[in-house]
Amino acid sequence: MSGKASFYITTPIYYVNAKPHLGHAYTSTVADCIARFHRALGEDSLVVTGTDEHGDKIAQAADKQKISPQELADSVSAEFKGLLPFLGVENFRFIRTTNQKHKALVQQFLQIVYDKGDIYFGEYGGYYCTGCERFYTEKELENGLCPQHLAPLDFISEKNYFFRMSKYAGWLRQYITEHPDLIQPERYRTEALALLDSGELEDLCISRPKSRLQWGVELPFDHNFVCYVWFDALLSYISALDWPEGDDFKNYWPVGQHLIAKDILKPHAVFWPTMLKSAGVEIYRRLNVHGYWLMRDAKMSKSLGNVVDPLQIISCYGLDVFRYFVLREMHFGNDASFTVEALITRQNADLSNDLGNLFSRVLAMADKYFGAVVPAPGVYEQPEIELQTLAGTTLQNFQTLFAACRFANALECLWEFIRALNKYVDFSAPWVLFKENKQEKLATVLYMLLESLRKVALNLWPVMPGSSVKMLEQLGLGLDPANLDISREIENFGLLTPGLALAKHSNLFPRFDLKKPDEQAEADRGADTVPACTFADFQKLDLRAGTILTAEQHPDADKLLCLQVDLGETKPRSIVSGISEFYAPREIIGRQVVVVANLPTRKIRKVESQGMLLTVQDETGLCLVAPSDVKKPGSRVS
Ligand code: MSP
Repeated sequence: MSGKASFYITTPIYYVNAKPHLGHAYTSTVADCIARFHRALGEDSLVVTGTDEHGDKIAQAADKQKISPQELADSVSAEFKGLLPFLGVENFRFIRTTNQKHKALVQQFLQIVYDKGDIYFGEYGGYYCTGCERFYTEKELENGLCPQHLAPLDFISEKNYFFRMSKYAGWLRQYITEHPDLIQPERYRTEALALLDSGELEDLCISRPKSRLQWGVELPFDHNFVCYVWFDALLSYISALDWPEGDDFKNYWPVGQHLIAKDILKPHAVFWPTMLKSAGVEIYRRLNVHGYWLMRDAKMSKSLGNVVDPLQIISCYGLDVFRYFVLREMHFGNDASFTVEALITRQNADLSNDLGNLFSRVLAMADKYFGAVVPAPGVYEQPEIELQTLAGTTLQNFQTLFAACRFANALECLWEFIRALNKYVDFSAPWVLFKENKQEKLATVLYMLLESLRKVALNLWPVMPGSSVKMLEQLGLGLDPANLDISREIENFGLLTPGLALAKHSNLFPRFDLKKPDEQAEADRGADTVPACTFADFQKLDLRAGTILTAEQHPDADKLLCLQVDLGETKPRSIVSGISEFYAPREIIGRQVVVVANLPTRKIRKVESQGMLLTVQDETGLCLVAPSDVKKPGSRVS
């Protein structure tokens, strides 16, 4: 071991019945940002993520696709794993619950709890939701429906094994009370306590008879049953560390933190600690709970068909912009809405204007006044002393808030410093100092700016690693993650060595255009002759207003774009359109279009197309037809 302090963070292990979307990508990205933040404080940090592959839900999804559960698990698990490098996640361990080692460990854990007398055989009747993989009591239903999926549930009664969770209710209540930091933000701690107070905590049904479900880990003490998927999945957090004897378990588990969304609070705040307690394993350090990414006011989820593909966003706007946006836009714990407009606004205002312009102005001035070399500062006066104090307080606040998962507030503090630097440029007017030949003051001002930007770049590394490294390179520095220590940046102003060679210019965050739909001039239509059409012919066309959710280049054709277009249906339509010469994918995301919605589905170069976009073309080019005001997706065009 390195002698460094350890840090350990997990994401939920994701179900393999659906492909990853922005919600999953968010949790994995945040886990990486937290892990990098701890690495930047000089700690040895590890991320564990992976896939949850057993249970009814997966068996049913595989059945629908007429493949085996293992085949489904292999292909979707590979997609989840393959996404991680695109999100910039590094130093991770990826666990799959169908892995032999994990399965053996689940059996070992079950046997310990069984031998302790905490598992018994009994009969149970309840409303079972396959989507949630859990039973609901009548009280928990909403108008007779699953409260998460708003779907009708089957009443199932069968003999099963139960974990004596109720036995630990009092202990858990006390443990949460005595450890105020265990679950955060506070509102989820309150919610967990309310779950415990809401009446008797029921025992947990932890088996499924093989007669109903085969796809799971067999119980070590009864071969006719498989283990309930949650009991199996939660154990991935310690099987990834080779519990019980592995060195990683000894190093990382005592500082283990989990990151989840609020949908799975109960299994993490109630099932998991009581399972650990029963088996005599230490409880995790902290449970960090975030809200949902919403799309048009509904939780983004595959079942609602309103998902955003993170890879498309990253390919259009870049990884660092994506990472900055999701951390800055979502106030951790609350829900947030995803829109491309909001992302572009953040890019243009925060990254391009505030930071990118400042950085390129400072480099250009350092080039013009000092031949692109870091000047040695002279005497610091009041404005410089004030700016140094501000650097200390804003960086301190940034780091404290970041450690508490308050990313939006943390970044706001860092931007307070960046905006102060912009004001300092205007106030100290280096161009006037140059004109008046005040060389020493000019050197001091530029040194202040360059040193401050070095601090900003280092502190931004956990969120925007690529841009951070670029900024540092342009400042004549390298970045070695193994030797980072951002905590010393709070106190020590002046760590940048004069004499370093700087880049002469920089263009870190180019602005994106938010084009207005009516910006393109509509040319008069030529006198093409078209055969006469009756009104009845016209009525056969189903024309609808739609909103483009995602756009990407067709993998095999330069002229085609592949789009996902919202027509107000349960799922967006996949539409292939020959507009690539006229529109870059990122220009059209969020725009409204008119779609011919009742054409038969066809494959265009192997990609399914479920409609056609209307366009107008003349000798100056082509443009999309759109309603002149934004209309609800799916509205009829007549
Ligand atoms: N397999 C279980 C977790 C077992 S952990 C021992 C599971 N899987 S899941 O595929 O449904 O993933 C749920 C998690 O995905 C959420 O807790 C969250 O991390 C992420 N998200 C999925 N949709 C999301 C949003 N719309 N918004 C934010 N995060 C979301 O539950």
